[in-house]
Amino acid sequence: MAARRLDKSISGLTGSVKVPGDKSISHRSVMFGAIAKGTTSVTNFLLGDDCLSTIACFRKLGVSIEQKGNQLQIVGNSFDGLKEPADVLDVGNSGTTIRLLLGVLAGRPFHATLIGDESIGRRPMTRVAKPLAMMGADIDGRCGGEFTPLSIRGGNLTGIDYHLPVASAQVKSSILLAGLQAEGITTVVEPSKTRDHTERMIRQFGGEVEESGLTVRIKGGQSLTASKVEVPGDISSAAFFLAAAAITPNSELLLKDVGLNPTRTGMIDVLKEMGADITVMPHDTEGYEPSGDIIIKTSNLKGVEIKGDILPRLIDEIPIIALVATQAEGTTVIKDAHELKVKETNRIDTVVGELAKLGASIEATDDGMIIHGKSHLKGGIVSSHGDHRIGMMLAVAALICKDEVFLERDEAISVSYPGFFKDLYSVMK
Ligand code: S3P
Repeated sequence: MAARRLDKSISGLTGSVKVPGDKSISHRSVMFGAIAKGTTSVTNFLLGDDCLSTIACFRKLGVSIEQKGNQLQIVGNSFDGLKEPADVLDVGNSGTTIRLLLGVLAGRPFHATLIGDESIGRRPMTRVAKPLAMMGADIDGRCGGEFTPLSIRGGNLTGIDYHLPVASAQVKSSILLAGLQAEGITTVVEPSKTRDHTERMIRQFGGEVEESGLTVRIKGGQSLTASKVEVPGDISSAAFFLAAAAITPNSELLLKDVGLNPTRTGMIDVLKEMGADITVMPHDTEGYEPSGDIIIKTSNLKGVEIKGDILPRLIDEIPIIALVATQAEGTTVIKDAHELKVKETNRIDTVVGELAKLGASIEATDDGMIIHGKSHLKGGIVSSHGDHRIGMMLAVAALICKDEVFLERDEAISVSYPGFFKDLYSVMK
């Protein structure tokens, strides 16, 4: 496939962008709509490839899902309404789909086979298979159950007390979805707080979940009731525009209706610490998920250290933060980010490799990276490596490169942001 030539003849970014719906919340809206009783309606659903994979999987499980533009109507009939699929369930590129789906299927009395693309085939699944097996599910797969293809036969589940070895919302959510079907209480303790969209959605659908500090507790056998889900804009998509405006001269952007769940806003905190000219205006009417508008302008930035408990709050934003750091005075050190190695690509290697090609001063460490700013980026041929967030980061990098940039495998961007280039071109002046 031909590489995309990225436009760089701009004098700045101006105007407003309404980024598409949040990916994590969109996935969960389909899943909760399917396991609740009644008709759930969803607005501003993300029509990215990952969320479309979730729809396709739940249709194969017998759930009626009607889609008109970015609105969905899901007819749920509780966990018992799910049927044994006649075909394999293909999750495509989506880690959230496969890991949360395993939690749903863990308590279903039937067999299913789950497959995905080449990237999914490299991502660790024992982190969910192990606790689900402790609860009573029968899961197997390639390399002792670590990789797809996976097969699962659900069983009668019993609640467990589980300390997560890694901070992962996908693993926590999978266990909570199994816990809803288990006998007794299921307790999950996280090493650091991760995104809490699942907990919020359980409440939105009439269920109860107890949270105290890093402990989440759920009682099995609860029934959920259909709801109306309004998906806020994805802060992880807005992140590319926040970064673009901060590092491109003569820029000012307004990002509208962005999700501001505090478990996701780590990048805003980091941008403020770097000295960015950013104003966050939360909306007054907050439902289950807070949202608001953000204004950001070209900024003089300085390097920072990013480590510890903030990591889960910005884990998906590390690629774009690394680019921002190339334009900050001084050194930025990113630590405690081992999880980057098991994302859609090994994001330590892909970020460092691609930004180095453009002339950044960046080095990989065992648990993150070190970036020395400020560098003058040149141009060249770079690749997304099939990773949507690497592709968007490189497209933003092109805005400040001296020479032309060609992006290979740009099609990966449709995983989370199908209209990305249209939105980006609309604010280039
Ligand atoms: C997600 C959790 C995170 C994140 C992913 C979406 C979710 O993954 O990186 O993009 O929706 O729960 P981990 O749970 O593996 O950290």
